[in-house]
Amino acid sequence: MTNAEMPRVGAREKVTGAARYGADHTPPGVAYAMPVVATVGKGRITRLDTTAAEAVSGVLLVLSHLDDLGIVPAGYIMAGGYAFQSLQPLLDDRVAYRGQPIALVVADTLVAAAEAAGLVRAVYEEEPFAVELDAAGTETVLQEEALPLPFLADVVVGDADGAYERSPLRVDAVYEAGPQHQVPMELIGGVAEWRGDTLVVHEGSQSVGALRGGLARQLGLDPDRVEVIAPYVGGGFGQKNSLQPHLAPLAVAARRLGRPVKLVLPRADTFHAASFRPVSRHRVRLGADRSGRLLAAIHEVDQQASRHDLLPASYTEITSRLYDIRNFRGRQRHVRTDVQTPGYMRAPFEHPAAFALESAVDELAHAAGRDPVELRLANDAVKDPVTGKPFSSRHLAACLRRGAELFGWAGRSPDPCSMRAADGTPVGWGVAAGAYPAMTVPVLARVRAGADGGVLVEAGGHEMGQGMTSALVSAVAQDLGIGAGSVRAVVGDTRVAPHHLTAGAWGTHSTLLAVHAALRELRERLGVPPEGPVDVAAAVAATGEREVVTEAVTRGPGQPPEAVDRMRAGLVAPDGPDYPDHVAFSFVAHFVEVRVEPAAPRVRVSRVVSVADCGRVASPVTADAQVRGAVVWGIGAALSEHSEVDPRFGGFLNADLADYVIPVNADVGAIEVDFIGEPDLTLNPMGVKTLGEVALVGVAPAIANAVFHATGRRPRRLPIRIEDLL
Ligand code: MOS
Repeated sequence: MTNAEMPRVGAREKVTGAARYGADHTPPGVAYAMPVVATVGKGRITRLDTTAAEAVSGVLLVLSHLDDLGIVPAGYIMAGGYAFQSLQPLLDDRVAYRGQPIALVVADTLVAAAEAAGLVRAVYEEEPFAVELDAAGTETVLQEEALPLPFLADVVVGDADGAYERSPLRVDAVYEAGPQHQVPMELIGGVAEWRGDTLVVHEGSQSVGALRGGLARQLGLDPDRVEVIAPYVGGGFGQKNSLQPHLAPLAVAARRLGRPVKLVLPRADTFHAASFRPVSRHRVRLGADRSGRLLAAIHEVDQQASRHDLLPASYTEITSRLYDIRNFRGRQRHVRTDVQTPGYMRAPFEHPAAFALESAVDELAHAAGRDPVELRLANDAVKDPVTGKPFSSRHLAACLRRGAELFGWAGRSPDPCSMRAADGTPVGWGVAAGAYPAMTVPVLARVRAGADGGVLVEAGGHEMGQGMTSALVSAVAQDLGIGAGSVRAVVGDTRVAPHHLTAGAWGTHSTLLAVHAALRELRERLGVPPEGPVDVAAAVAATGEREVVTEAVTRGPGQPPEAVDRMRAGLVAPDGPDYPDHVAFSFVAHFVEVRVEPAAPRVRVSRVVSVADCGRVASPVTADAQVRGAVVWGIGAALSEHSEVDPRFGGFLNADLADYVIPVNADVGAIEVDFIGEPDLTLNPMGVKTLGEVALVGVAPAIANAVFHATGRRPRRLPIRIEDLL
């Protein structure tokens, strides 16, 4: 199949508006809900007056803690539950953070619901709160003590402190990455509808299984009585990776009213209704010999937490093995603040961790007088320095070499402030690398081959725009040697399969493995050879059946069968990156050119070259788009995206797309993407690793390093602001 024949499934539907996202579903008789949120930083609701709201024409219901909703919390996703945080609003008078929902208004029309929501009056007893890392009243806990799980223990290899002290060349610096929000285009929202005693939910989600399991727990239902449908997701990025607290109250409202209820959260509410990327602060110490050969690294991280949950951190998972560092000490701490529970946002730990480490490595290269690409190549690892196991595959050096070639790195003049554009604008060239764990989750896939020659795949997985369905359709078409037009894939639907969370960039490769296994079984049932083209219509007809159906369940190589039970229950069960016989990571190298305007030092990213090692590229057209999108994300992360916090106020201030500044086309220069494309057959029979998140890792430090090269000023805080360069 040539690139031109590779399908981009759903493209036509999306650009013509035919694609139906969760809240596009508008069943007859639907009512509309609108939340009311807390306007204090912390405290207790002493009075809630809903009289004026209830008097608005068309208002049907106002739900709050004054009512008995008959629901229980769904539990925190990282502690055996289903929700993005343990706290379920509307169950008591507590306000844990500004923006927390305190009531839900339901009305005949959206206009009536919105007007009434604005008329709900709350009186609070306020309490002191803290929303910044250094504020009085925060509480700091060590991850190793607070979350005593082996895989969350601090990474300690060799004697990092001793080796650091003895190193002739040392870097010691603190880097900070601010809070961010995922802001996918599709807002958070959905439709809850009862059909008899079955709850049907349409909502964009990365985990229809968690919504199903969580709602069943909250409402006391058999999970078989909950159906969750999300054929399209308008961007997830971690925001939609678990159950959010609006859904159970929505289901309660729908049951009480005997009609479907729809909720679409206003953009501002999404800044407090779901998770976000927490602030993290990194002290990095690197010790090296005079040539820049790394002898020791110490990476200490403080990550923001909520009062009620700790998001398990794994910043040092990649910083301990991006290079061959024989003496490494990691230490991760949590700082409890009064916010909703922070969570996963694309490359949740790896992006800020790489900003810290890869900036420090650039500082080291500068101190050693070495070219930063050369220095990285000199420190490349042959086996995993943490476990001593081999990498399933590792082509970081190839990424660096090919990137340097494509970028024209040889033409770089090493000194800061030494390069200028034709018009005299200072130019900087920077490089950085990234890694991301290749994890595997349990997946059930079913293949239905019809006597008409068509093949339908039904599998656990979610299409969030990353291209999973394109990858599945091309895999089946290539495997059977049939046209992509004869293949259809259904994902994001609990009616066809149980679903594991799609996140951590494990989605496409895990689902491909199950489809691959189901296809092997199909070939056996059809009595055709295990490989080579198949005349599906003839082979099915020869069986005398109208349709031949096979099913396979796959899981990670290090996983017990119970992992499959967890998947079936909608709970998380990832395997890796530390597998029994190897460790598995994807790698990337980014090369960046910036121009810094001389008057006010505004940074423009004029050119980026990114080369990724994600094993075999499952779907070239969508993989290319994934990396481009990640580069745009990196530009935002490096230069503009920041959720603003006022310590006197709480919550997030710039809760809209005018003030939360994401890159627009004018902010994005030329992007060139390439892949090493070497299949990783040690990891799995498809040879596919992971891509969606690694693509972002290292973009921000490559930009920061380019800014240093252009200006001689070292950015140590994200986003890099004009005032940092004055
Ligand atoms: Mo994604 S940040 O792993 O949900």
